[in-house]
Amino acid sequence: MASTTGPQLAGGVQGPTRAQIDAKTLRTDRWWLAPATTFVVFSAFVVYATWRAFADSNYFVDPYLSPFYSPCLGDCVKGSSDFGTPFGGFPLSAALIVLIFPLGFRMSCYYYRKAYYRAFWLSPPACAVAEPHGSYSGETRFPLVFQNVHRWFWYAAIVVAAILTYDTALTFREADGGHVGLGSLIFVANIVLIWLYTLSCHSCRHIVGGRLRHFSKHPVRYRMWTFVSKLNAHHPSFAWYSLFSVAIADLYVMLLANGTISETRFF
Ligand code: FES
Repeated sequence: MASTTGPQLAGGVQGPTRAQIDAKTLRTDRWWLAPATTFVVFSAFVVYATWRAFADSNYFVDPYLSPFYSPCLGDCVKGSSDFGTPFGGFPLSAALIVLIFPLGFRMSCYYYRKAYYRAFWLSPPACAVAEPHGSYSGETRFPLVFQNVHRWFWYAAIVVAAILTYDTALTFREADGGHVGLGSLIFVANIVLIWLYTLSCHSCRHIVGGRLRHFSKHPVRYRMWTFVSKLNAHHPSFAWYSLFSVAIADLYVMLLANGTISETRFF
């Protein structure tokens, strides 16, 4: 997000060079609906994800490993640690060992930043609606300057998506043959949405097509950039759909593991 500090913006919309309008906004549409919805849905997800991340239980039932706990690197239940347990003895929930990567990726996402700055900090609440703050420093200062790590979290997100793809493949495996359950389909839907979200990232678009003088000399990267650009147009939708799908995948595993439901098998 661009920094726009400068004397002309001192005082925000009440600054001396701005039109002197007392009303917070002249908009008459329901501009508050989007930030209010973001506030409710995002808060609900944060509460659910925090509860599940600290629960340290009901995250694995063969062949399903909750995406919140993958890869399971701590003192995990039997059968859930395909990548070993290098953090065995970790005193807290195993989910907390790996959560920093998907969480950091989402929290520093350019789209989510726009959404939660509007919904939680009213900065500003919507286009052409005055914010309540008297000054604006953009993302030039601590702690928001750390949002710039997003491009590095993208590389971690690729690894996470690859591991979740592996987990999804395992949902079709069973000791005595194949298996297709409702959980397999939920995991497939989730990983497709996770990949769409990850590949439609603005940083991804820059990584595949940025820093080039001539696309004509890089036809492969041009094709990749064109593909990512098409996905990028839908990034906000992928951001929300993948948020829902990851919660639904975890919820399904939890309900199976604690015996609330039993698996619906198709094969
Ligand atoms: S901009 Fe949203 S994930 Fe990168």
